[in-house]
Amino acid sequence: MALAEQTVIITGANTGLGYSCAKNIAAENKSWHVILACRDSKKADEAVRNLIVETGNPNIYFLPLDLSSFDSVKAFSSKYIQSNYPPLKGLVCNAGIAGEDEVVFTKDGIESTFQVNCLSHFLLIQLLFKKLIPPARILMVSSELHRNNGSMKAFLPNYTNAQELAYPNKENSNIKGSGQIRYSTSKLCMLFYTHKINDLFHEKGINNITINAFNPGLMPDTGLGGLNRKLFQKFFLKYILPIFVKGALSTPQRSGKLLAQLIISDKFNGMSGKYFDREKEIAPSDESFDKNKIADLWNTSIKITKIENEI
Ligand SMILES: NC(=O)c1ccc[n+]([C@@H]2O[C@H](COP(=O)([O-])OP(=O)(O)OC[C@H]3O[C@@H](n4cnc5c(N)ncnc54)[C@H](OP(=O)(O)O)[C@@H]3O)[C@@H](O)[C@H]2O)c1
Repeated sequence: MALAEQTVIITGANTGLGYSCAKNIAAENKSWHVILACRDSKKADEAVRNLIVETGNPNIYFLPLDLSSFDSVKAFSSKYIQSNYPPLKGLVCNAGIAGEDEVVFTKDGIESTFQVNCLSHFLLIQLLFKKLIPPARILMVSSELHRNNGSMKAFLPNYTNAQELAYPNKENSNIKGSGQIRYSTSKLCMLFYTHKINDLFHEKGINNITINAFNPGLMPDTGLGGLNRKLFQKFFLKYILPIFVKGALSTPQRSGKLLAQLIISDKFNGMSGKYFDREKEIAPSDESFDKNKIADLWNTSIKITKIENEI
């Protein structure tokens, strides 16, 4: 008997972890329709062509999404809602950037790492929530760098408040290492969102839509992990950092397969509010449960994105 058709949306799926996740979902089950939510149409079209050939699944599509623009997130959501895809069963918030030390503001006037990695994914979830047909799953790609107790001081997150993260004072923020700190902080925010949305699901009696967070491990060969970086940084990420962060090393192929399982495998039925370090469920940092910080991020995200009906 043919399996019922269903849809998954993966942000930033033209390369790296997102591509591998798309490939594994599409290959494992030909009844899944996979939507690559990407900003660059040339790269995305090529990824669609390659994925169709590599998986034998013809149901792979590109829909434009630039997470550095709230208008683009809204346009993506409207286009998706107006289209006639099979029921939406998965939303993978994967795309991400690791900024340089110099603060870059988006055209919405918001610090780019915070908008791309956090606020736009928040908005996307809010806009698509009603389209998720239970049982359905949301996955937030985070990182062990969210933890504020690592041995590498330069990589530690620093959650002050969301207003300051969105609108940092440029002069005070262009300091050495601040790009890395903004990145780690954005990955902590992905856990704040996970815990808040999971709590809301409990409060509202929604138990057949789940949300979990995922750490793919250190993948030095992705765009974010290395290719766009300077030679020294690549060397550092590939050979030095793993010495400090034991067992951290992975590849997009391996981690993408595990991320795909979190969307499609029955093994994870009903699991929500969890944090997976690749295949293993582990405890996230204590800070990721900080009620004041979670409320601050949530309320400020609502204010900045101006959403009308929150989950
Ligand atoms: N690499 C690691 O070691 C590592 C470790 C822990 C967590 N992670 C997380 O894993 C996720 C995937 O990263 P990756 O390592 O696979 O990096 P990657 O190869 O650079 O992939 C990042 C994806 O995000 C997309 N993206 C960037 N800015 C965007 C925007 N404004 N709108 C829409 N899409 C945008 C990129 O599109 P373009 O191709 O157009 O740039 C690309 O598809 C990220 O959330 C990252 O934080 C990575």
